[in-house]
Amino acid sequence: MWILAAVLHVLYYISPAYCANAFAVFGGGKPIDFGLSLSGRRILGDGKTWRGLFIGLFFSTLFGFFWFSASSSGPLSQTYYNEFNFHISNPLFGFYLGLGALLGDISASFLKRRLGIPRGQPLWVIDQLDFVFGALLFAYLFGLPLLSPVEVIILLIITPAFHLFGNFIAYHTKKKVVWW
Ligand code: CTP
Ligand code: MG
Repeated sequence: MWILAAVLHVLYYISPAYCANAFAVFGGGKPIDFGLSLSGRRILGDGKTWRGLFIGLFFSTLFGFFWFSASSSGPLSQTYYNEFNFHISNPLFGFYLGLGALLGDISASFLKRRLGIPRGQPLWVIDQLDFVFGALLFAYLFGLPLLSPVEVIILLIITPAFHLFGNFIAYHTKKKVVWW
């Protein structure tokens, strides 16, 4: 089934970015902005920490490397329906996607603080998709294989659902103070 292959390929491709975002909640400690403010508002806020950045980057890199190894032979080295290529040839695939995801999330916090939205308060759509935009931008900048326009649309539809589900878990395990 084409649509199933498309969804699986999209999830496979973006998994290091999801990973970066999910593991960043194990952050804490020193904020990236060192507590500094800009015109009376925090540059990024306490929700963006060095530990979260490094943990997220570590796991996204590991995840990407895992897919790189797993797709060197066998079913993941194949192309399906003439378009869904699961072979990952760059061992740093996860590093680039994860870094893009984390910087996308940081950029969104920067924007939220400039708009006067406190840490943890929602900015719908941006909160759900910031890390995906960052990851796609970095994939482009670092010359990684790209998703097709249809796949990007699928990604933008399924990501908010996964994101809210993940946040719901993070909230109930007390990793996040609000459910969104
Ligand atoms: N986190 C972190 N370091 C990062 C990213 C996230 O420590 N670089 C942790 C923080 O504990 C944060 C949680 O993961 O509270 C969830 O991330 P996110 O929802 O992006 O942060 P918010 O608290 O909602 O803050 P903001 O309003 O800035 O998005
Ligand atoms: Mg957020």
